[in-house]
Amino acid sequence: MKKILVVGSSGQIGTELVLELRNRFGTQNVVASDIRKPESLPEGPFEELDIMNAEVLSAVVSKHGINEVYLLAALLSATAEKNPEFAWKLNMEGLFNVLNLAKDKVIKKVFWPSSIAVFGPTTPRVNTPQFTVMEPSTVYGISKLAGERWCEYYAKQYGVDVRSIRYPGLISYTSLPGGGTTDYAVDIFYSAKKKEKFSCFLKEDTPLPMMYMEDAIRATIDIMEAPEEQIKIKSSYNLAGISFTPEEIYNEVRKLSPDFEIEYKPDFRQAIADSWPGSIDDSRAQEDWGWKSRYNLSDLAQIMFNNVQV
Ligand code: NAD
Ligand code: SER
Repeated sequence: MKKILVVGSSGQIGTELVLELRNRFGTQNVVASDIRKPESLPEGPFEELDIMNAEVLSAVVSKHGINEVYLLAALLSATAEKNPEFAWKLNMEGLFNVLNLAKDKVIKKVFWPSSIAVFGPTTPRVNTPQFTVMEPSTVYGISKLAGERWCEYYAKQYGVDVRSIRYPGLISYTSLPGGGTTDYAVDIFYSAKKKEKFSCFLKEDTPLPMMYMEDAIRATIDIMEAPEEQIKIKSSYNLAGISFTPEEIYNEVRKLSPDFEIEYKPDFRQAIADSWPGSIDDSRAQEDWGWKSRYNLSDLAQIMFNNVQV
């Protein structure tokens, strides 16, 4: 019997992942957990849990008979730059606490997300390959790259079944993003719906890899449900959705709200975005476990515009 724990369940991804996991595997078989309660608590078990506390984590795992953990708790790129030491501590300690439960055979399977932030200014920016130069320049990227290496190490040394995706910037309307460099691509829809001028913190011609949340949730559950022998990359898989610049998404939103205006006021997040790829080659995810993105920019803009609540 599958018993899943989602750690960081009140955030942008967790809010939607918990709902989909509960649809597929049953409400009582998916335990949500976070240091904060979600804005509206859905039906189903919830535990207040700080992932840095290994004892409390073990107690929750034992109480619910958990055998799979999806670890989402982390500080994202922009927030992490404001508190680098804490970001390193949270992003690494949380991962070790979960990997060690798998090493000790208390749990069977782990999902841990990496990010496009593992790449850096010396990485080829167009169609960034799965295996390439990786010299991240942010604390977030450094923690994700280190996390990838530890996942592979635990898989190879201890036989831990850990699966990981390098998410692009994720775009959704259910829960707000938690302090990343790609957040502008969500914020733009709130301004459009409020009929306000949008102040974009990136320059108009900055391409970044992005993805609609439904695609990301499907990829997450697909990689976890794939037969173990298909998961040949034990660090993390490149994953691609749609690549666009602020100007391209603005033009798409203007088709839905013709008077919508934008101004560009780049801040410290511009340097982060400039160090990341503009587009991603995800052919290994396609070949190994059958990944394929379903949403293009026009679909995404339409769905976001129709669903964002202001
Ligand atoms: P988020 O900031 O929206 O949510 C993270 C959640 O973790 C929050 O609800 C927060 O309260 C919780 N949390 C923080 N510290 C905790 C702790 N000590 N113990 C338990 N919970 C804690 O982030 P998200 O966008 O949902 O991202 C989830 C994961 O996916 C992160 O690892 C992130 O790096 C990765 N990721 C996200 C994106 C994206 O665009 N959203 C892209 C790439 C990778
Ligand atoms: N969306 C994330 C961020 O901007 C990418 O990992 O931090």
